[in-house]
Amino acid sequence: MGEFPLAYLDNAATTHKPRAVIEAMRVFYERDNANVHRAVHELAHRATGCFEGARASVARFLNASNAEQIVFTRGATEAINLVAQSWGGARLQRGDRILLSPMEHHSNLVPWQQIARRVGATLAYIPMDPIAGTLRLEELDSLLSSPTKILALTHASNVLGTINPVAAIAAEARRKGVITLIDAAQSVGHLPLDVESMGCDFLVFSGHKMYGPMGVGILWGRSEILESMAPWQGGGEMVREVTWDGFTFGPPPQRFEAGTPPVAEAIGLGAAIRFLEQLGRKEIALYESELTAYALERLRGIPDLRTLGPSGERAPVISWTQRGIHPHDIVCLANERGVALRGGHHCAQPLCAMLGVEGTVRASLAFYNTRSEIDQLVDAVESARKLFA
Ligand SMILES: Cc1ncc(COP(=O)(O)O)c(C=O)c1O
Repeated sequence: MGEFPLAYLDNAATTHKPRAVIEAMRVFYERDNANVHRAVHELAHRATGCFEGARASVARFLNASNAEQIVFTRGATEAINLVAQSWGGARLQRGDRILLSPMEHHSNLVPWQQIARRVGATLAYIPMDPIAGTLRLEELDSLLSSPTKILALTHASNVLGTINPVAAIAAEARRKGVITLIDAAQSVGHLPLDVESMGCDFLVFSGHKMYGPMGVGILWGRSEILESMAPWQGGGEMVREVTWDGFTFGPPPQRFEAGTPPVAEAIGLGAAIRFLEQLGRKEIALYESELTAYALERLRGIPDLRTLGPSGERAPVISWTQRGIHPHDIVCLANERGVALRGGHHCAQPLCAMLGVEGTVRASLAFYNTRSEIDQLVDAVESARKLFA
């Protein structure tokens, strides 16, 4: 970065990893490496113990009632595909409706579009106020009525930072008999999550956006729903018995974990959870909300810069446009001054279309960011503006 220190403000894409996470994975590979569940030798016992221990940590982290509700996946995207294919493939029929919001990441849109196309279901979107960056819930009651079968909604927007009132929305859905899936990819590293008080039926997230490794994610589901679902992939581990003609499948969560799971990554995720618990999730949320308010205030002081998203509470994500400068130009110039930003549609093209922008510049913060990094960001954006003036 030359004369500038790195100010990494692309945490919504992925966070950096604490040494405790890297160390937990190193120790696993150096000391405990074996495949899980299959053998009775000492290393296999240890590997299985560490892997299942990580599952128990995730259950505690989410306040899930038991560890069997925790399915390891490759990430949030795979977890959503699992629900769309397994639950949706069996439960959705021609004419049924899938309810989404306009602020979903493509990961929580495309899997639903695929299953809708396959079974002949339709899609509907909760209306949104593009200026306020919040959902308009006046029509929620009728949108949740028949033929809606499932609502898939992000907890926090990866573009606007909007935090949706998921507990109130899930309660309304429950009254109407509609299943809810919450995409917690952008909230899991920043806000305390409690699946019981959220009242949803499924919740998904990726490990790498909450200081854990890439390649592991979580599907949490209510026991009775997971038990009613068929596996979506076949292979070893997920079966009870296989004959020449067929197979019977095992119980959740193994039913959904065909093949060798991401063992070291799950153990790394467990370490990330312990790390966050030690820091204190409420303390993290408080610090990040102060830092976000500071960043918003400073950015709003720059001429011709328009920040998007809600004026009140938000996740530590700030998107903006700058009159006369393409987002990618700002990102490139900021990079020359050591500031890592993201520019573009952030895998939310329908949202950008609704906002009337081709893309935005996005700064997304984590607990390790500081006010002086925000000052560095503001200086970089100011210098880009002057260059283009
Ligand atoms: C809100 C949201 N959902 C889902 C995802 C997909 O996460 P992954 O690519 O780790 O599966 C992202 C990634 O940016 C996201 O921001």
